[in-house]
Amino acid sequence: MSSPRRTATITAVGKYLPEKVVTNAELEESLDTTDEWIRSRTGIHQRHMVSNGETTSDMTVAAIRNLMEKYPLDVDKIDCIIVGTVTPDMLFPSTAAIVQQKLGASNAWGFDLSAACSGFLFGLDTGTRFIESGRYEKVLVVGADAMSAVIDPSDRSTAILFGDGAGVVLLEPCEDGSEGIMDSLLRIDGSGGDYLYMIGGGSRQPATAESVAKGDHFLRQDGRAVYKAAVKGMADISAAIAQRNGLKAENIRLFIPHQANQRIIDASAERLGLAAEQVLSNVAMYANTTAGTIPLGICDAVEDKLLQPGDNVLLAAFGAGFTWGGIYIKWGHTV
Ligand code: COA
Repeated sequence: MSSPRRTATITAVGKYLPEKVVTNAELEESLDTTDEWIRSRTGIHQRHMVSNGETTSDMTVAAIRNLMEKYPLDVDKIDCIIVGTVTPDMLFPSTAAIVQQKLGASNAWGFDLSAACSGFLFGLDTGTRFIESGRYEKVLVVGADAMSAVIDPSDRSTAILFGDGAGVVLLEPCEDGSEGIMDSLLRIDGSGGDYLYMIGGGSRQPATAESVAKGDHFLRQDGRAVYKAAVKGMADISAAIAQRNGLKAENIRLFIPHQANQRIIDASAERLGLAAEQVLSNVAMYANTTAGTIPLGICDAVEDKLLQPGDNVLLAAFGAGFTWGGIYIKWGHTV
């Protein structure tokens, strides 16, 4: 008889949202927009924003400390720290290295993973493979972004959409394979690069006085093109991963999609045939925190006691690149 497949399961979660909250009404003061427009087009009511020099690594460490308040994790036992982010503290060293040092995780290695809004999902799949291989026992997978660092505050088409925040999960082995990450379907398509990007600061356009004056250090987006691709990409991949795992709407306890826009969430949920109570949505309170949305959603679901061992959970993301994907989890024992 073959031995059971070792899986990776989420044993603990943590989150951090900066103290400062910016409401739509506050944005009305500096932008040609209205609370009504933002709510009706996106579902967003408010967002959190870093202040006083707070960075992505600070948010990440705070999220990990939140996890450690609930779960006994010896920092010396952490094998690997994967940080999904497009707003690292700096281009290098990696945010993962900065986090390692702030935590004092003396035996860890790690890296940043750049996949925009799919960063956490890609990191979760990568961490899963590390656990499944038998090489590692404890992998922290983080999604964290300080989007306010790359948003043009005078651009009403993007400034309303994003927020800052961090979420983390701890992956550990499940030796009998009865719970944890069961399947994943991940994609990238570089032809989407024309529609959502930040051109400045890399090797193509190193930062110069001119590039800064032109605003090349800000995120740029063709909202309509991204919207169309996101609706199709997230709905298609969610349906595909549900189908190949034999999951019908009634067997899915919770769908935790990337939180960019309530209309994109609704379109994906409708495609899966899900009722409102099967879909996690927190975009109203946090806006789009890029790599942060899914781990923040997982953490909220755990805090609200929405999940029981054995529940089927679907994650789905779509982001710049384009990047997108879906992950199916058989829920385990998570704090
Ligand atoms: N307040 C008021 N009006 C605004 C506005 C704002 N904040 N932003 C744009 N508008 C205007 C536009 O200028 C446009 O005016 P026009 O018709 O005179 O040209 C009008 O509103 C409609 O713009 P449009 O872009 O068609 O709106 P939309 O319904 O597509 O919604 C987004 C815009 C950005 C909310 C939507 O396209 C979206 O969510 N896209 C995906 C973004 C995303 O999720 N990105 C992250 C990666 S996953």
